[in-house]
Amino acid sequence: MTTPDQRPARSLPHRPRRLRTSPVMRAMVAETTLEPRRLVLPAFVAEGLAEPRPISSMPGVVQHTLDTLRRAAVDAAQAGLAGVMLFGVPEHKDARGSGALDPDGILTRAITAVRSEVGDDLLVMSDVCLDEFTDHGHCGVLTPSGVVDNDATVEIFAQMAVLHAWAGAHVVGPSGMMDGQVGAIRAALDADGAQDTTIMAYAAKFTSAFYGPFREAVDSSLTGDRKTYQQDGANVREALREVALDVAEGADIVMVKPALAYLDVIRAVAEVSPVPVAAYNISGEMAMVEAAAANGWIAREPAIAETLTSIRRAGADVVLTYWAQEWAERYHRGT
Ligand code: PBG
Repeated sequence: MTTPDQRPARSLPHRPRRLRTSPVMRAMVAETTLEPRRLVLPAFVAEGLAEPRPISSMPGVVQHTLDTLRRAAVDAAQAGLAGVMLFGVPEHKDARGSGALDPDGILTRAITAVRSEVGDDLLVMSDVCLDEFTDHGHCGVLTPSGVVDNDATVEIFAQMAVLHAWAGAHVVGPSGMMDGQVGAIRAALDADGAQDTTIMAYAAKFTSAFYGPFREAVDSSLTGDRKTYQQDGANVREALREVALDVAEGADIVMVKPALAYLDVIRAVAEVSPVPVAAYNISGEMAMVEAAAANGWIAREPAIAETLTSIRRAGADVVLTYWAQEWAERYHRGT
């Protein structure tokens, strides 16, 4: 046997390149897959908008009106996505984040609107947190001395989760990093007959510069930081402890967030978690790719594929990504 140019082939028993010779071969042996059913689309809905408002730091992402949100949810269901994670942007904010408990508030209305549109074809997920609703921008209410009051905030989260469940949320996503939030929410849901509402707990959520664009997306008024409640990026053991606590308190799914700077944490959690693991490819992570691509510095679509694949490969069962719809459409087109 000779090679095409007639030189005798080296006698190599192992030629890993044989498994990379064509798209079909590569697809056959791919270990990591990225089906739309694994993806959740985060979506923002703002009160008082006549038209969707683009978010400048997140190209392609908008603050929806109730109407455009409904349409986006129908598209998501048609594309075979797992769900939408809803964030509400109220017109008025106050110190206690009262809008969060308003049955007629923007997030509650959005949940009902989307659920009535998609039924059980798409999972309706809701953010259980106060930062979109407070004028100081923190994830909870403050004590007189200005510290985020853990236990008072947990009470509010529990009521908020019940409100969301009755509005139609299949899944509630407590993202405030208060101690005991999952247990309190589980108990409140159960006491209210919402025992089938799923809790996707933001279990290991790190304080991060990569949340920057999200703060524009929700018109956040935060000054300062969230370091007293969100985790320190230096700690993986602490992340495992947070996950274990949330599982013990009744979390059905645990999330690691952000994703890219924390792939090792996703891996560590995936190795021990008895429940499915989600990871959130956050706003700054997408903005980074979009900005570089807009400058012609990287190829956008391959960079998106590589990003999402890395998160799945690290061990995430579920990926929350602003590219979910685009990815699903690409997936079905086969490009
Ligand atoms: C809190 C919440 C945040 C994000 C999701 N839920 C903001 C924060 O913790 O500061 C960030 C998502 C993103 O950056 O894409 N409600």
